[in-house]
Amino acid sequence: MNNSAMNLNRTEFGDPQNSGNVISENEAFELLHAWVENEKLIAHMRQVGHLMRSYAKEKAYSEDVQHKWFLAGLLHDADWEKWPETHCNKIVEELEDRNIDPEIIRAIASHGPKYFGVDPKTEMDKMLYAFDELSGLIHAYSLMRPNGYEGMEVKGVKKRLKDKTFAAQVSREDIADACERAEISLDDLIQFIVRHQIDALS
Ligand SMILES: [Fe+2]
Ligand SMILES: [Fe+2]
Repeated sequence: MNNSAMNLNRTEFGDPQNSGNVISENEAFELLHAWVENEKLIAHMRQVGHLMRSYAKEKAYSEDVQHKWFLAGLLHDADWEKWPETHCNKIVEELEDRNIDPEIIRAIASHGPKYFGVDPKTEMDKMLYAFDELSGLIHAYSLMRPNGYEGMEVKGVKKRLKDKTFAAQVSREDIADACERAEISLDDLIQFIVRHQIDALS
């Protein structure tokens, strides 16, 4: 994969005048369904969207803010299937064309600092980066457990993290980096994901 093609080569996104502009949940799903066929990818984005909204909710942020967090999570990989080489470029442009709130666009633009060349700065940026990789590994773990997420423990997840052959595509390095940037312990992040991922797909 040509990583340089993914580099966004800028650090400003959207127009500050569009602050507060969002699309509805239905419109966001319309965009997803227009661009994505892979059900697993849609499930991944739904999980991350749900985690983002749950996190903003636990922080007692307003419903408007919760919706912004949700949209960033739900749409972060929307262009991955159709435009993998330039992943992130197309969704950022699309949301800019739709005059969407710059905070949402910025969070999406910084969900892979290594690839897109944008550092996560805000709390929303950092949590999206933190949830992205780890939620996938935890989901894979749930699929191999007889009771799925039920009774899943932090130590079980950590064991899977140590086993580099398990969900091998998940970057352990990015997870450690994300925890450091978000100033959240790995244990707390795992716990949050397990607690909220249970109902993400219901
Ligand atoms: Fe991505
Ligand atoms: Fe992702």
